[in-house]
Amino acid sequence: MENPLEAFTLSAVNTCPSLGVGLAGFGTVGSGVWNTLDRNGALITGRTGGGVSLHIAKILVRDRSKTRATTGDVPAEIFTTDWRALIDDPAVEIVVELIGGTTDAFEIVAAALKAKKPVVTGNKALLAERGVELFALSKEHDTPIHFEAAVAGGIPIIRTVQDSFIGNRILAFSGIINGTSNYILGRMTDAGLTFADALTEAQSLGYAEADPALDVNGWDAAHKAILLATLAYGFPIHPKDIHVSGIEQVRPTDIHFAKSLGYVVKLLAVIREHPDGTVELRVQPSFIAKSNILASVHGVFNAVAVHGDTAGESLFYGRGAGQNPTASSVVADLVEAARSLKQSSGHRGFLPYREKGRILPAAETSTAYYVRFDVTDRPGVIAEVAKILADHKIGISGTHSPVNPSNPDAEFVDMIFLLHTCPFGKLQAALEEIEQLDCVNSIPVVFRIESLG
Ligand code: NAP
Ligand code: HSE
Repeated sequence: MENPLEAFTLSAVNTCPSLGVGLAGFGTVGSGVWNTLDRNGALITGRTGGGVSLHIAKILVRDRSKTRATTGDVPAEIFTTDWRALIDDPAVEIVVELIGGTTDAFEIVAAALKAKKPVVTGNKALLAERGVELFALSKEHDTPIHFEAAVAGGIPIIRTVQDSFIGNRILAFSGIINGTSNYILGRMTDAGLTFADALTEAQSLGYAEADPALDVNGWDAAHKAILLATLAYGFPIHPKDIHVSGIEQVRPTDIHFAKSLGYVVKLLAVIREHPDGTVELRVQPSFIAKSNILASVHGVFNAVAVHGDTAGESLFYGRGAGQNPTASSVVADLVEAARSLKQSSGHRGFLPYREKGRILPAAETSTAYYVRFDVTDRPGVIAEVAKILADHKIGISGTHSPVNPSNPDAEFVDMIFLLHTCPFGKLQAALEEIEQLDCVNSIPVVFRIESLG
């Protein structure tokens, strides 16, 4: 018997002319977009009542000779290595930027907007660093930029902030928004992998950035946090104004110590609006209680908790990186872009709507802390460190000096302090003094202990 859905979609395909997409980038995500349209193109046309049909008209790559793993045959003649040829091709009506970086990608997106071709991008670095310029161009040329894939992979968090929560003042976001670092922390914790081996796995699974330093130094998550905060609070946020640290310094000692205290270590993004309108925005490895829902976000999964003044708290969970989840968001944006060609969908970016905005300096942000020192193992060391903390009026809730089981006679040992809540600036001042002590051998490692609401 004939499948009624198939009959419907086939008849729908014939009802609208197909729109040509220029795909700049055919790596992990770009080829995922091809596969998704190949697999679900007719479904999309059916679901839009015959309103949207899409095909890839041109593909930009660096190296045309590379073998590409895709479903279906990609005609060799649609590949180009010249981005201007992609933008200028009259068969290209919508441009998808998936090459990454902030230089060529900027030129491509700017040229597409000037040519009045709607843009879809997953490039959070580009939008966090140069979004203000691009969204001004978007407004000037009345041509939208869609960027659902730029934050949290397959989770529709941008639409949530732009549409579903539009009637809310957003009081806070907190979440895990880098899949690679969450994957690495999980593999170090659960399988005892080294940092380097866990990163290699994440790269082979297509989760990491072309430059994985951005994943592990916290800046990929920071770029995403900047996009969320800019949408929520309406003023441009400069990367230089925020404090970011990544997971490179996390050692098995920290993971095991956290576990023994009932915490897990996660790379956490915290965005919060204070009553005076100042916005706190931080990304750092943090201890969070095992009982907190974010503690059960494992592997490449992301989760973003959004606190709206009207909706209250909501949690969004899903795959934060990888080929298919990211392609899912890009394709959703493509359909929206196709609709916008028929009827203006209004401005979709972040043009400032707040006169003045202030980012809370990191020194003024307060939490409790876990601090690890590398010290010479001799009597009196704990007292020396504790005295400086006391001089700065920083309370200590615990201290521990684990013996290195593989070398109990080691000259240097880890010494851990758990500290009461205080401003980060106060802690920094104390740490600067502590670093000068003869017994302290390297820069102390600090994680925040978050009490999430
Ligand atoms: P990728 O696998 O490294 O692919 C990049 C593609 O762009 C390749 O096809 C490459 O060509 C092409 N390319 C790079 N620079 C180029 C240039 N200057 N001119 C022409 N072509 C160029 O990257 P990806 O993982 O797909 O990521 C693409 C974008 O999506 C990035 O902005 C990333 O942040 C974002 N994103 C990725 C994920 C993810 O899970 N991977 C998730 C969300 C967002 P060749 O194939 O010839 O080398
Ligand atoms: N490298 C990014 C991550 C890709 O691991 O989260 C998704 O933005």
